[in-house]
Amino acid sequence: MKRLIAALFTLVTFYSYAQQDAKMNTFINNLMSRMTIEEKIGQLNLVTPGGAVTGSVVSKGVDENIRKGYVGGLFGITGPEKVRQAQEIAVKNSRLKIPLFFGLDVIHGHKTVFPIPLGLSCSWDIALIERSARIAATEATADGLCWAFSPMVDIARDPRWGRISEGSGEDQYLGGEIAKAMVRGYQGKDYTSADRLMACVKHFALYGAAEAGRDYNSVDMSKIKMYEYYLPPYKAAVDAGVGSVMSSFNDIDAVPATGNKWLLTDLLRKQWGFKGLVVSDYTSVSEMSNHGLGDLKTVSALALNAGLDMDMVAEGFLTTLKQSLKEGKVTQKQIDDACRRILEAKYKLGLFDDPYRFMDDTRPAKEILTAETRKAAREIAAHSFVLLKNNAQVLPLKKSGTIAVVGPLADSRRNMLGTWSVAGDFTKAVTVIEGIKNVAPDAAIIYAKGANISDDPMLVKRTNVFPPDEIETDKRSPEVMIKEAVEAANNADVVVAVVGEAADMTGEASSRSDIGLPESQLNLLKALATTGKPVVMVLFNGRPMTLTWETQHINAILDVWFGGTEGGNAIADVLFGNYNPSGKLTTTFPQHVGQIPLYYNHKHTGRPYNNEDFAKFKSNYLDISNDPLFPFGYGLSYTTFAYSEVKVSKEKLKGSESLKASVTLTNTGKYAGEEVVQLYITDVVASVTRAVKDLKGFQKILLQPGESREVDFTITPEQLKFYNNNLKYDWESGDFVIHIGTNSSDLKSAKINWVK
Ligand code: BGC
Repeated sequence: MKRLIAALFTLVTFYSYAQQDAKMNTFINNLMSRMTIEEKIGQLNLVTPGGAVTGSVVSKGVDENIRKGYVGGLFGITGPEKVRQAQEIAVKNSRLKIPLFFGLDVIHGHKTVFPIPLGLSCSWDIALIERSARIAATEATADGLCWAFSPMVDIARDPRWGRISEGSGEDQYLGGEIAKAMVRGYQGKDYTSADRLMACVKHFALYGAAEAGRDYNSVDMSKIKMYEYYLPPYKAAVDAGVGSVMSSFNDIDAVPATGNKWLLTDLLRKQWGFKGLVVSDYTSVSEMSNHGLGDLKTVSALALNAGLDMDMVAEGFLTTLKQSLKEGKVTQKQIDDACRRILEAKYKLGLFDDPYRFMDDTRPAKEILTAETRKAAREIAAHSFVLLKNNAQVLPLKKSGTIAVVGPLADSRRNMLGTWSVAGDFTKAVTVIEGIKNVAPDAAIIYAKGANISDDPMLVKRTNVFPPDEIETDKRSPEVMIKEAVEAANNADVVVAVVGEAADMTGEASSRSDIGLPESQLNLLKALATTGKPVVMVLFNGRPMTLTWETQHINAILDVWFGGTEGGNAIADVLFGNYNPSGKLTTTFPQHVGQIPLYYNHKHTGRPYNNEDFAKFKSNYLDISNDPLFPFGYGLSYTTFAYSEVKVSKEKLKGSESLKASVTLTNTGKYAGEEVVQLYITDVVASVTRAVKDLKGFQKILLQPGESREVDFTITPEQLKFYNNNLKYDWESGDFVIHIGTNSSDLKSAKINWVK
């Protein structure tokens, strides 16, 4: 009976979707039959009148172009009133009154800013991440927007690349789960309600694999690596129904993504069945000329032929497609298809019913940066922090006594939000020192800045490109500042040193060749360490950093990324034990920049190395071990967890059977705490080289002190699949090792055999 009802429900849903589609098609056919070629091409044009500018070009004559019907959408403006003004030009003054849609980089929250995405991913809490996107969608739609250029799901294995901060780290499975959650959070089931918006998965594809970690640099990789490791998160977003895709700046197989037909049509539309719209990245159409592919007309035609629908800022489509059509370089059908996909998105967003539906002046006061969104931001931020070291249980701190709070980021409001928080207002953010005072009002606080973020004039200048200056230079000498901090330390029971990167030392166009702490801050830490006082380092960072000295000499290290609007309160919650940290790294920390790329799911080599002593003619270095400083999946808690051996329900399996693998997890410490239990699988023998292990599942488990729980994973052949040499996704018979544990390097294992 239940099945019958379910089948009936599916049928009714299918029928109603089919009916809605038919209605939409009739509407769009009718509209398109009245559009001139210029108006159709106009829909393919996405412009920005300023706001968040990430290139050397800004759109000109925007109002006039809207009037003429030469603009499909706008990004970079916010606020119902401003957005309404632009919409009015389209709806009142253009010939066909086609509404515009309005986008923005809503990346980790909108006005209520959550931790940077790399931090969010370290929560391994999918529901929490979905909630952050849900809140961002509510705020952004209350602010006039209906399109978020997010989620950014680029896999990154190179921490020199500044945009590693914007993604979910190095693992394709976790990245895929997060991608789906973000799409659900932004769009809901369908984005019919006025507090949901269209998501845009980016940057399609492989943008995170830029050579040498230098932004916008070339990418070259084998198809097998692409399919196995880099493409899954984009595919996950497409499977989750993402409404739009943004093409990336880089080339793939020697053709820039924006003009790559294999990528945008064969793979995305034909293989994956994507039906939404594809937008270019900022001027990535015209940049194909710099890649050496020809003049603007040639590269614009290339992009349309490849399957690109919308041109962001380059105006290559607007200014050349009509001529290319005349010359037979593009077809009418290609222009019509692109135009249709943009109109469909607008239709689904309800803009033809009500072009002003996201411009309700009463919403901002009720829905933006409220007590509830701040509460959520505080909770979410605390979940993103990773405790890297905690010698002799320095943490959690007592809420009494004297605390020296030092470091250039302790009192720096402008560095709280992190990169890509374009709508965020840093003046609304809580600093670390404020958070400490809020959470521990009875403690005596002595503050000293101790050092500038950097004293390197070139780094300061290059970081401080946009106001306000994130690196504020104190004119006092380094010696004077350090002396003041050491005095503070000597007069305190414990030191909290808040150090790290300025917000814009990561993010777009913020690659670094040295990913250590700037010298000014390292000198401060060295001086503090000589005081003999326990030092707790609170680290702001948008990337893994080489913290070798720090890890050896500092008593405790709490990685807080960039925590967002409520970052200061959340940091204090964790420092004083109101929340027991549960974050785990989603990106490997190298010991040295020379080890990059260093990631957990690397391949076996023919000359593997045992990770102990140096061995001649093995895959190792003369001057350093192969080990990371902190491995993928690593993170401590104030409590401790013990894992039993792995139990498997069967050791020999056949065909489509499934396996239960389990461990007993026990909280062996004094605090209640959450542990991210991680499941990895090794394919022992295969027809192609496989990674040493791959993450295949995880669960976040809360246990009270002394409590034990059995944690089960069900494994099916689906988790054994990989891409073989013919790019066929399948599994092969043989031995597999099932690993379960606390991080990618510390695991318990059991061997099984599975035949087809
Ligand atoms: C970035 C994109 C962003 C776009 C619009 C580009 O520079 O690469 O991630 O969505 O600008 O702001």
